[in-house]
Amino acid sequence: MIKTVSAINIEKAFGGKRVLCGVNIEAEMGKITGLLGPSGAGKTTLIKIFTGQLEADSGICRIKGKDIGALKKEDKRRFGIMADELGVYDRLSCYENLRIFARLYGLSKEDIQNALKNVGLENDGKTRADKLSKGMRCRLRLARALMIHPEILFLDEPTSGLDPTAAEKIHRLILDECARGTAVLLTTHNMAEAQKLCSSVSLLCDGRIVESGAPDDICRRHNSSRILRIHLSDGRDIELSQNEGAAESVAELIRTGKADSIHTSEPDLDAVFKELTGKELAI
Ligand SMILES: Nc1ncnc2c1ncn2[C@@H]1O[C@H](COP(=O)(O)OP(=O)(O)OP(=O)(O)O)[C@@H](O)[C@H]1O
Ligand SMILES: [Mg+2]
Repeated sequence: MIKTVSAINIEKAFGGKRVLCGVNIEAEMGKITGLLGPSGAGKTTLIKIFTGQLEADSGICRIKGKDIGALKKEDKRRFGIMADELGVYDRLSCYENLRIFARLYGLSKEDIQNALKNVGLENDGKTRADKLSKGMRCRLRLARALMIHPEILFLDEPTSGLDPTAAEKIHRLILDECARGTAVLLTTHNMAEAQKLCSSVSLLCDGRIVESGAPDDICRRHNSSRILRIHLSDGRDIELSQNEGAAESVAELIRTGKADSIHTSEPDLDAVFKELTGKELAI
């Protein structure tokens, strides 16, 4: 059985401006795949194409082997989507917000209660959405996406604007969902988030994927400086280039008990992105 979500050679332009230029990406069931890029890179456009809100000019998007154009309503009911344009109705309570979607999907009251409980809002069913904190509001939006028990979850910048504690709660929910076997495709411009959650990431800049793979592999591939950072027992920090000469020096420091810790200096995804594109990821 084919179990992946894939985009092959996707092209999209708006009024002559090319926004996606031959994009390829694949997400697997039970894995979190990240699409990283700065503002305007084309992340939301790609998510909208995957979820049928926009049509690509050319290329193929497949979900579990089916072309997205050929997906039936029942297939689409297995998509969970959390995106900005799917907002929250401020004047409705949390329960009422979910009830709108529950009706569309034929879900029960119990499903709504379970969805609220799943995201820790079980005591806020009656709370109006405009009284929620940013993090709670975000959990409500995630509850809506998770309520249908999706097979594929599309998350467009799920923690944007959240403080670390609120973001951590969202991360936990995403990881739990992934552990259920759901394929998660998430966009972010937060390198730390991608490094923590994603088994694979694609770096998107101006509509082109400039690098992809496991975050650690990408960072190792681009470790051009190959520096060793050594903290000495007398408190000093020194740096050595990783060459044959360094091996003898390191061995000597270890033999004489002078090295407290030794680290390689692989770049992080932000640094790799900057090296490849000349641009900052986190803007
Ligand atoms: N409906 C549209 N009409 C015209 N241009 C659009 C439309 N939607 C997106 N664009 C343009 O396409 C480019 C990519 O936009 P997109 O929203 O996909 O970026 P993004 O990576 O999601 O950015 P952000 O991190 O700010 O959300 C931008 O230059 C944007 O102005
Ligand atoms: Mg966007």
